[in-house]
Amino acid sequence: MGGWVLGVIGGSGLYEIEGLANRRWVKADSPWGEPSDELLTGEIGDLKLVFLPRHGRGHRISPTEVNSRANIDVLKRAGCTDILSVSAVGSLREEYAPGDFALVDQYIDRTFARPKSFFGTGLVAHVSMADPTCPRLSGLAAAAGRAAGQTVAEAATLVVMEGPQFSTRAESELYRSWGADLIGMTAMPEAKLAREAELPYATLAMVTDYDCWREETAAVEVSAVMEVMAANADGARATIVRLAEALQDERPASPIDTCLDYAVVTSPSAWD
Ligand code: ADE
Repeated sequence: MGGWVLGVIGGSGLYEIEGLANRRWVKADSPWGEPSDELLTGEIGDLKLVFLPRHGRGHRISPTEVNSRANIDVLKRAGCTDILSVSAVGSLREEYAPGDFALVDQYIDRTFARPKSFFGTGLVAHVSMADPTCPRLSGLAAAAGRAAGQTVAEAATLVVMEGPQFSTRAESELYRSWGADLIGMTAMPEAKLAREAELPYATLAMVTDYDCWREETAAVEVSAVMEVMAANADGARATIVRLAEALQDERPASPIDTCLDYAVVTSPSAWD
């Protein structure tokens, strides 16, 4: 058993954390292509943190263009044991208000233009996605968010759409009728690839808007999303620091660390 190494995927403002010691931007290579950016490594106490700006510094990469295979691969190679994914999302429910945080426990994957697996090309595996997030990491992140003074919901269902356009009103209503609580563009296929890489994964969703289903509210616009994100940036950074403080000790093993033991179909004799 070793210590935790926390990978954090999220927006650029997230990394300006006071107290992140030994900050270093490091170029990381992957056989899966170019990751979104260099990795920012550093430490808070005994915890090693590895940050990756999902859209690259300066927000150059659209949700469809994010190379999630390379991103997850370089975090795994950097020694991450767990991944916290931070995403801006719209709300499909009155009770999730702009400014609130939520930990996701289910996804509905509506993306269709992104590579979604490390497998194929001769090696077949089917990992379970019945419980797609890590309850341990999600619980710790929820507690960290509350300790940082945020309102944090748990067990939210997130629809991930292809984008880059926002939903039509009919789509927004459809997702509500399916029981979804939140909508975003980035957590898939990231969550699936993290599972294939045997990395426990949690989505910390930051609610920025009410999407377009709500009569009382104007249709979602980027300027409103950015405004709420800027207002939430301190809360997100404080949540990461509190989470880091909770991950100072040895890391007990997780069943997700070995989930491929039950998932690879191809016979080992066919691997050469
Ligand atoms: N990200 C932030 N708000 C969103 C919305 N309403 N739909 C999809 N992605 C979002």
